[in-house]
Amino acid sequence: MKKILVIGIGAGNPDYLTVQAINALNEVDVFFVIDKGKQKEDLGRLRKEICRRFIKDQDYRLFEVPDPERDRSPASYATEIAAWREKRVALYRSMISEELKDGECGAFLIWGDPSLYDGTLGILQQILAQGTVEFEYEVIPGITSVQALAARHKISLNRTGESIHITPARKLADGLPAACDNVVVMLDAGTAFNSLADDDLDIYWGAYLGTDDEILASGKVREVGKKIADLRSARKTEKGWIMDTYLLRRGLATE
Ligand SMILES: C[S@@+](CC[C@H](N)C(=O)[O-])C[C@H]1O[C@@H](n2cnc3c(N)ncnc32)[C@H](O)[C@@H]1O
Repeated sequence: MKKILVIGIGAGNPDYLTVQAINALNEVDVFFVIDKGKQKEDLGRLRKEICRRFIKDQDYRLFEVPDPERDRSPASYATEIAAWREKRVALYRSMISEELKDGECGAFLIWGDPSLYDGTLGILQQILAQGTVEFEYEVIPGITSVQALAARHKISLNRTGESIHITPARKLADGLPAACDNVVVMLDAGTAFNSLADDDLDIYWGAYLGTDDEILASGKVREVGKKIADLRSARKTEKGWIMDTYLLRRGLATE
């Protein structure tokens, strides 16, 4: 039987790797690396550095393929995502059937944790449901960008008894969810926090968390929102890409 490990590698700092993840890395015969283009070269480098640093016998194979093309501003988001996912399913299926021998262990190194805005587990489940290739798989959890954000700001994500909502920025077009005082925003291609009507919002923002380029900022959105937007735009231009996450928190009369 073939085995696949889906290993969370933490969101940025190689020191985020857990002992379980390091042990898992040392079991792997073939690493499947999805090349996400020039902008993400830095992330690819970090994955390779993790393999160099934590694997004792450097006799594993690396199988690198380009990520299937995807239209970033499609007429229908849902249709485009479904089509892109099908291409990924076909790609992953052929990698597992052709590049991994029976009895070998393959792995996907997942940025942060596989449970948070990552399609790998869904793709593997879809391949298994098709029944054309057999394998078993395991999931090794990692430190998410959300945990890194909270740790670096030295905050908890909620105040006593409150709920936490995690959302991609595109779902904030109609404002923050009414019933939730703590909203973690991910996958923001811009600065959605500056378009929200709420007047009393705190923001805890982090970009390139865990890396040497990390930037942190916090305060009332109405006071620091413009500064964060300028910083974000400048760093994105210099580096060619940016990845940021933030917590928005409604103020309370009493805590
Ligand atoms: C496709 S999601 C993957 C999330 C990942 N699985 C995790 O556990 O954090 C990518 C988004 O995660 C956030 N992100 C990931 N790594 C980050 C980092 N080092 N600093 C800031 N945000 C990060 C950003 O919001 C980015 O748009």
